Amino acid sequence: MTASTTDALAKVESPKSKGRIKALVRALQYLGLQKFWFVLVIVLFLIGTIGFISLSVMLGIAVNSLSGTTVPGQLMQLVTIMAGLALVTFITYYAGFRLLAGVTQNALFRLRQDLFEHTQELSLRFFDRQPIGELMSRVTNDIDVVTAFFQQPLGTLIMGILMLFTTLVAMVLLDSRLAVIASIAIPLLIGLVWLLARVAGPAFSLLQERLADLNGLMEETIAGERTIIAYRQQDKVARKQAFVSETARDTGARAQILSLVMMPLTVLVTNINIALVALTGSVMIINGTLTVGVLTTFLSLTMMFVLPLMTIFANYNFILSAAVSSGRIFSIMDEQPDIKDLPGVVELKPVLGHVVFKDVNFSYVPGRQVLKHNSFEAMPGQMIGLCGPTGAGKSTIINILTRYYDIDSGVIEIDGQDIYTVTQASLRKQIGVVLQEPFLFSDTVMNNLKYGREGATDEECITAARDANCDEFITRLPEGYNTLLTDGGSNLSQGQRQLLTIARAMVANPRILILDEATSNVDTRTERNIQAAIRKLQEGRTSFVIAHRLSTIRPAQQILVINDGEIIERGTHEEMVKAKGFYYDLYMSQFKGRIAEIIPA
Ligand SMILES: Nc1ncnc2c1ncn2[C@@H]1O[C@H](COP(=O)(O)OP(=O)(O)O)[C@@H](O)[C@H]1O
Ligand SMILES: [Mg+2]
Repeated sequence: MTASTTDALAKVESPKSKGRIKALVRALQYLGLQKFWFVLVIVLFLIGTIGFISLSVMLGIAVNSLSGTTVPGQLMQLVTIMAGLALVTFITYYAGFRLLAGVTQNALFRLRQDLFEHTQELSLRFFDRQPIGELMSRVTNDIDVVTAFFQQPLGTLIMGILMLFTTLVAMVLLDSRLAVIASIAIPLLIGLVWLLARVAGPAFSLLQERLADLNGLMEETIAGERTIIAYRQQDKVARKQAFVSETARDTGARAQILSLVMMPLTVLVTNINIALVALTGSVMIINGTLTVGVLTTFLSLTMMFVLPLMTIFANYNFILSAAVSSGRIFSIMDEQPDIKDLPGVVELKPVLGHVVFKDVNFSYVPGRQVLKHNSFEAMPGQMIGLCGPTGAGKSTIINILTRYYDIDSGVIEIDGQDIYTVTQASLRKQIGVVLQEPFLFSDTVMNNLKYGREGATDEECITAARDANCDEFITRLPEGYNTLLTDGGSNLSQGQRQLLTIARAMVANPRILILDEATSNVDTRTERNIQAAIRKLQEGRTSFVIAHRLSTIRPAQQILVINDGEIIERGTHEEMVKAKGFYYDLYMSQFKGRIAEIIPA
């Protein structure tokens, strides 16, 4: 790991506890995007809760009337009312949960979209500093954790909190003296929650980090399998893996044990509380200041009182991990490019995609020049292929076109406008990026396409999928476009995932498109499929395609051969093959490689 990678990782490390709660609140604020529906959910839950609590009150009334002189008709009436209340509770809770499911679905969609847009903005620069396996597993994992929290525990929590307050209010209204007794346990119970947060919280965030380590290592290992075998590193890697997974296991066990101890403690405190209320209530009855009915109501309320707190306990793991994950999601979302807009910059108007580099020099570190006197011109709608050895500076050219770094000298223009005179946001909005590593969410296929552009319709997405050769395999999935992708698309092949990201780029419809090694990880057959999709994607837009395999960039109107930061050759494929220069050698070596693959010596 280089120094700069470590720095970048340190920046997105798990936030501290205060930051975590803030992050969770920020995730919850996405629910407010549909204020009306969310308020309706609360109102429904509240009606249900009041209905539920009223049952206890009715029970008390029933007990009181039993001890007095009652007509059977009165009792029937009570029973009917109670049945009605139970029904109201059931219907409102059910409706509330159904509605909440829709609201959270939407909130999650917006959260994912924001995250996706941000990673698009940061992409090249950000990805080049982060070990990709770690980042991918983190983001998709974190989003899944937050999703799980929104889908289940959130509703029960809202209900729990409403229940707590309604119960308190009912108690105070019935008998304030007994209400005080019943509330004694609250601070104790809250104390327990706090303890859990202090002790188990750090254990859980540690667990998340360990799991990310493990995932990162696995992906690295799988990606580098050949290298590992070639260099006979299997033992070493296996030892490292065993160590990382053991640490993950131990950390997980510690977190679990801590939360297990807390549960029986809560039950104990609750039972003591009930005993206290029963004792005080009995004394009050003997003194004639309380009826048996009110005590009955109180006992049932005290028992229920603990329900919401128990719910919080039962879901504590979810809350904690959702908070930790939200913290990391937002730390990625808050990650800003180091480059600042110059004063007086304007918005870049929608462009045609005429890109010009004039004598551009660039170095990441002063004194070590990476790009040397780069000049080229891409006409609107042209495909520009970039090739050359690893480390030649291909990605760097893209990094400075999207202004992730400031150049040392020279001029970069888009449609005649110097990119240093426009805002970075408006510049990047017009540039789409497809990277080597497909980035998908554990969401439906359709939604994954929609993340490309806010407000994209189903039809637009399906058209894009057709153009990208995705339609065929998507319709063969169990639920077609509504199929859920698991673990960020692990139920698709690498090539299918890449095709989906290309379709998504089509949905986004940028004027300028960048594909950095987008076909590097797929087999030859899939590559052909992807190439066809890319050609479709390139129609009517300027594209820069970086590819290790020259067959990918063969149709380019202009191919730039980069070596050691210099454009050493340029032209079409045919021109350069004829010229028998550097490109020709590169081409021949790959050609021979292919033949050797088919007919081994
Ligand atoms: N963020 C960075 N900081 C410092 N040096 C970098 C950074 N990114 C790339 N480089 C260096 O710049 C050179 C060109 O890298 P790059 O453009 O990524 O090559 P390519 O994409 O052609 O493989 C390499 O020597 C690389 O080590
Ligand atoms: Mg590169």
